Amino acid sequence: MKKNVTLAILSAAVIGLGPFIVSCDNVTDPAADKIDGAVGIVFPNDYLRWDNDEARFRAALTAAGVEHTILRSADSSVTEATHVANLIESGIKVLVLCPVSSADAASAAEAAHAAGVTVIAYERLITETAAVDYYVSFKSLDVGRMQGQYLIDHATGTGNPLYLYAGNQTDNNSFLFFAGSWSVLQPKIADGTFVIANSQAADGLKESATLTHDQISTIFGTNAISGTPPAMTVDGITTHWSYDDAKTLCERNLSTVNASASLKGSVFVLGPNDYTARGIIAALDGDSAVTSYVITGQDAEKDSVQSIIDGYQSMTVFKDVRTLASDAAAAVIEVLKGKTPATLGSFNNGVKEVPSVISDIVQVTAANVREALIDTGYYSASDFTGL
Ligand code: BGC
Repeated sequence: MKKNVTLAILSAAVIGLGPFIVSCDNVTDPAADKIDGAVGIVFPNDYLRWDNDEARFRAALTAAGVEHTILRSADSSVTEATHVANLIESGIKVLVLCPVSSADAASAAEAAHAAGVTVIAYERLITETAAVDYYVSFKSLDVGRMQGQYLIDHATGTGNPLYLYAGNQTDNNSFLFFAGSWSVLQPKIADGTFVIANSQAADGLKESATLTHDQISTIFGTNAISGTPPAMTVDGITTHWSYDDAKTLCERNLSTVNASASLKGSVFVLGPNDYTARGIIAALDGDSAVTSYVITGQDAEKDSVQSIIDGYQSMTVFKDVRTLASDAAAAVIEVLKGKTPATLGSFNNGVKEVPSVISDIVQVTAANVREALIDTGYYSASDFTGL
């Protein structure tokens, strides 16, 4: 059922902007321009998000003649560690790792470092270890702020039901996204514009302008899944970045909230990314007491862009992976040439300031799909209907 969607249109001390640039260390040494060695790239799962990154990486590395192996970890830190061990064994010189778990990946990064491999954390930071040489990502706090601000800009009056959802406990980015959203939403929860519908833990903290990592972790909960078909224990707001889990969680939330207490009707939803937003939309569409929704997303996946054009999902945050992959590929090539990739900032991972390149993000709604995604060549107009 199509709802009457309102359309309109941790020390995250990130100071870096812009691309990796060639350092001046050894520009006069012609031997330094020779690429020597291979790179291993490990993505966390088979989700669509990483297909784009993989394609861009392959193109950049193939063009530069860099030998590369790209693997996926099936959302398992154990599989990830095995992949990294095999890549080290095969003799790679550089590891590009987007970790399943930011903290658990520390040991894989340390194994790589011990073997003399340069480690680049990709999109998600690897935390609590000194064995990370570079970090390439987007402005994750701003992603959360943009999502929260969109909800604020489309709410009027007071008492608007707000459903909060998050990515995964293991993903450092999930904490940054939520902290960013909370920084703008909290005053609007405290002043009664929004009423949190699905998290007592978040509601209990509504007077706190900033949250600690542990407080966010408590709000996230685990939402453990078991049985066949999977049953979910709803003790938090995490979706595990999964469409199915997001849908199940939202269905559970909708079955327990009190419609007569105005927690349905026109609702506002912090959808953490596109894939989970589509799962949540399926749940919202299945509840006749939900009459309209405003819901955020992230990644500009084709299916969500179509959903935005069709008037279901309200917005997405476009993270141009062309920039991300080319920045990371440029860093790989510099290292394989024996040079030091120059960075323009750093990001604290709990143990060290990791030299970083952090890219900008763009808000996409029905009003600017063409300008942001078609005119820039990211997608073709023929990828969509009704544009
Ligand atoms: C990324 C998102 C992505 C999510 C799930 C996060 O770490 O920042 O872009 O949607 O993981 O794969």
